[in-house]
Amino acid sequence: MTALIVTESLFGNTLAIAEAIGSGIAEVHGPEAVRVLHASRAPSELPTDLDLLVIGAPTHLLSLPNAGSRHDAEGKGAPQVQATGVREWIESVTIPSGLLVATFDTSIPDRIGLGTAAGAAARALRRRGAEASVGPSFFVTGMEGPLADGELGRATAWGRELAGALASTA
Ligand SMILES: Cc1cc2nc3c(=O)[nH]c(=O)nc-3n(C[C@H](O)[C@H](O)[C@H](O)COP(=O)(O)O)c2cc1C
Repeated sequence: MTALIVTESLFGNTLAIAEAIGSGIAEVHGPEAVRVLHASRAPSELPTDLDLLVIGAPTHLLSLPNAGSRHDAEGKGAPQVQATGVREWIESVTIPSGLLVATFDTSIPDRIGLGTAAGAAARALRRRGAEASVGPSFFVTGMEGPLADGELGRATAWGRELAGALASTA
């Protein structure tokens, strides 16, 4: 079983969640089964043996980050700004039919009813002909974080759940 987690993170919170999801997958299938990559370094041709693709980003302006919102984050001191991220990667990648794909995001709790990066990523994937299930929003306590209490544990549990679902269909 192999899993790839593609993410972007301006302040580091979404990356921490991605790594926690990866730990949950690794608990079921071993550490060699899972990789976490920043979207700017993720391949547009996916490995042929891939079983699970997880895509996550911080919610910016009720959607996926774009060049303008990344610039805003940089102006607010974000240390990890890259020119491209999940939005651009989804536009470039070829998703094999039948691949299990799930999205997640980090968000501020009282805003998620209005729109999330996880939902926007699933819609962008659908426009490219790929089906994805919309996974959880993991909560930050403010724009820079930190993550709310318990969110890393929730992310690890979700990773275990994804990996377990895959194991039971294998
Ligand atoms: C430009 C900008 C716009 C944002 N817009 C939203 C938003 O619409 N909804 C929301 O819940 N959080 C919003 N946030 C807060 C981000 O969700 C938060 O910065 C992110 O979860 C932190 O993740 P990171 O550390 O991986 O960058 C915004 C943050 C920035 C910088």
